[in-house]
Amino acid sequence: MCPMYSEKVMEHFRNPKNMGEIKDADGVGTVGNPTCGDLMTIYIKVKDDVITDIKFKTFGCAAAIATSSMITEIAKNKTLSEAQKITRDNVAEKLDGLPPIKMHCSNLASDALKAAINDYKKKHK
Ligand code: FES
Repeated sequence: MCPMYSEKVMEHFRNPKNMGEIKDADGVGTVGNPTCGDLMTIYIKVKDDVITDIKFKTFGCAAAIATSSMITEIAKNKTLSEAQKITRDNVAEKLDGLPPIKMHCSNLASDALKAAINDYKKKHK
């Protein structure tokens, strides 16, 4: 096991959940980290204010991939307002913690999800 990451992080890194793209997504959010250059896109399908499907594409470090995978699991079947409240700490906790120098990676996940929700809201006013 990698001494830096929890077993949960490694599990989501090796077998990410909901990886891919939703072609007819209702909302899409892309964010980048200017420091490391990593990039994350989240796609959502929404029905009656509930996220019914969610996928991600991430070009980034192991923590970025694991946090993307985890946030899709947390957000699926949540209402938009519940999903909007998911913080980077919620994601890190569910992964049994992240090393402090990797906490910024989980920002990408929560920011990309928020961007996708905002995109949906803009398009469906
Ligand atoms: Fe860039 Fe993790 S190092 S997101």
